[in-house]
Amino acid sequence: MAFPVADHSATPLADLVSLAGRAAVVTGAARGIGAAIAARLAEAGAEVVLADLDGEGTTAAAKELEAKHGRRMAGARVDVADEASVAALADLAVERLGRIDIWVNNAGIFPHTGRVVDADAAAFDTVLDVNVSGTFLGAREAARRMADGGSIVNLASITSFAARSGLTAYSTSKHAVVGLTRNLARDLAPLGIRVNAVAPGLIVTPGVLGGSAGETRSADALATRPAAPLGRHGLPDDVARVVLFLASDLAGFVSGATIVVDAADTA
Ligand SMILES: NC(=O)c1ccc[n+]([C@@H]2O[C@H](COP(=O)([O-])OP(=O)(O)OC[C@H]3O[C@@H](n4cnc5c(N)ncnc54)[C@H](O)[C@@H]3O)[C@@H](O)[C@H]2O)c1
Repeated sequence: MAFPVADHSATPLADLVSLAGRAAVVTGAARGIGAAIAARLAEAGAEVVLADLDGEGTTAAAKELEAKHGRRMAGARVDVADEASVAALADLAVERLGRIDIWVNNAGIFPHTGRVVDADAAAFDTVLDVNVSGTFLGAREAARRMADGGSIVNLASITSFAARSGLTAYSTSKHAVVGLTRNLARDLAPLGIRVNAVAPGLIVTPGVLGGSAGETRSADALATRPAAPLGRHGLPDDVARVVLFLASDLAGFVSGATIVVDAADTA
C-alpha cells in the first residue's frame, strides 16, 4: 500500500462535496449524460476538459461553463476507441489544467444489433471497442497521470445485470464495464485511485431519442415506455449528481462499486 486514503471524519460537508482545485476529464461530454456530468463537476469547483467525437460541441459547451464559473475549461475532440487519441486527450488535460484528478468514462454507443443469428461481427466489435476498450484506455491514461491519487467513474447500465433483446453487444459491453471497474479498483488502489461505476436505467438523452446505428425513435415513442417506479423517466442530471458523489471526497472510501441509478426500475 503506497498510502492510505485520507480520513475525512472531521471534514466539513461543504468541503467534502467541493471539487475546488481539481482537474477533471469527461468523455462523451458534447451532449446527454456527459454534458450534465461536466456541468455538475464544474459547478462543484472543478476545471473540466470536455471531450467527444464532436469536438465543436465540446468547445461550445466548455466556453459556456468557463463564462458561467470563471474557471479554466477546455473542449477537445477524442475517439475513445483510439489509443493515440485518448493519450493525446490526457496530455492535453495536463497541459491545460496542470493535473488530472477525476476522469469520467462516459462516451458510449448503444446500437440495436438485432438477433444474434443475423448479427454482424464487425458491429459487435465496434460496440466493445468504444464501450469497453474506450473505458480501459481512459482509465489507463488517467491513472498514468494522476500524481496525487484520484477518482475514475465509468458508465455501466442496468443492462450490465440483465439481458436486453436486440442489444446483445451493448449489454455484453456493459457487463464488461462492471468487471473492468472492479479490476481497475483493485489494481489502482495502491496509487490512491478510486474506480467506480454508475448504472443508469432509461435516461432521456439525444442518443436515446435519436437512436443510433440507423435506429429511429421519437419522443412520442418514448412516451409509450412506462415511467420508472419513482414516477418519471430519468434525466441526465439524475446520473450526474451520483457521478459527482463518486468523484468527490464524500465517496472517499468507495471503490469497485457500481451504483444503480434507475428509480427502482430493476428493484
Ligand atoms: N441514456 C440512457 O438511457 C443510458 C442508460 C444507461 C447507460 N447509458 C450510458 O451513458 C453514456 C452516455 O449516454 P447518452 O445517453 O448520454 O448518449 P448520447 O448518445 O446522447 O451521447 C453520447 C456522446 O458520446 C459521444 N461518443 C460516442 N462515441 C464516441 C467515441 N468513440 N469517442 C468519443 N465520444 C463518443 C457522442 O458523440 C455523444 O456526444 C453511455 O456510455 C451510455 O451507454 C445511457
